[in-house]
Amino acid sequence: MQYYSGKTVWLTGASSGIGLAMAEQLAEAGAHLILTSRRAEALEEVRQRLAHPERHRVLALDLSQPEQAATEAQQALGDQVIDILINNAGVSQRSLILETDLSVYRQLMEIDYFAVVALTKLVLPRMLERRSGHIVTVSSVAGKVGTKLRSGYNGAKFGVLGFMDALRAETHTHQLVVTSILPGFINTQVAHNSLTGNGSALGHEDPDNAGGISAEECARQSLKAIAAQKAEVVVGSGLSKLAPLLQRFWPGLVRRIVAKR
Ligand SMILES: NC(=O)c1ccc[n+]([C@@H]2O[C@H](COP(=O)([O-])OP(=O)(O)OC[C@H]3O[C@@H](n4cnc5c(N)ncnc54)[C@H](OP(=O)(O)O)[C@@H]3O)[C@@H](O)[C@H]2O)c1
Repeated sequence: MQYYSGKTVWLTGASSGIGLAMAEQLAEAGAHLILTSRRAEALEEVRQRLAHPERHRVLALDLSQPEQAATEAQQALGDQVIDILINNAGVSQRSLILETDLSVYRQLMEIDYFAVVALTKLVLPRMLERRSGHIVTVSSVAGKVGTKLRSGYNGAKFGVLGFMDALRAETHTHQLVVTSILPGFINTQVAHNSLTGNGSALGHEDPDNAGGISAEECARQSLKAIAAQKAEVVVGSGLSKLAPLLQRFWPGLVRRIVAKR
């Protein structure tokens, strides 16, 4: 994909799942990557396995503390030009509202919403100055349709889509490109890593994600949409791919489906 050749791409959530698959495909396409997640060692292993490892660097950050992460990133990156920021890191949830601590809602918002805002604000002034740049956020179909066990995740993923729409509106005269990716069910560690009511990880897969499309296919479709400079794209298969469309035109039907599932 020509779009990525020679571009510096800051990719979060690069140690696993969709982000890892994106890193592999972006490196093949000639991008220069800044790889972010919490686990420096895992990122270093990824870097060494990528095409042209010498072109890429690791920047380990804990995005559950967005202000601190932004300060550390600012120090590490200095005035390095970022052509594309892909906010992909995220954490999901598997717990009922009645059984979920408020602190879990805050943690989901920190990672899935505030970290996106913080990293976007970090790269935005330079992109506007250069009148060039592309900001991408991986939201979710859960950012369009609320379902059981994901109330905090839904809130963060709905919110981040609103933020991206506002960003697009505020920057449209500056040649900035803004893309939101909405995956349906993708076969990654997302369920395993999901937060339960007390903040601990679920620790096992769930059949919906295990039955979804592969991370590689999700990355391929997402990177194609980013290169085509789409505003918003749904990636996936089956009902999870159809859900945003159904929600738009038949919201009553969607309410009945999600209440039964
Ligand atoms: N899989 C799906 O079905 C699906 C559907 C819709 C949307 N999504 C979204 O897709 C994105 C990628 O998820 P995935 O499916 O690839 O899940 P995953 O395999 O669990 O990967 C999540 C990534 O986020 C990073 N991360 C988690 N917490 C972090 C933190 N506090 N600070 C920095 N990095 C953190 C993880 O790295 P470390 O552990 O190294 O920190 C990992 O690289 C997420 O935004 C998710 O919400 C996924």
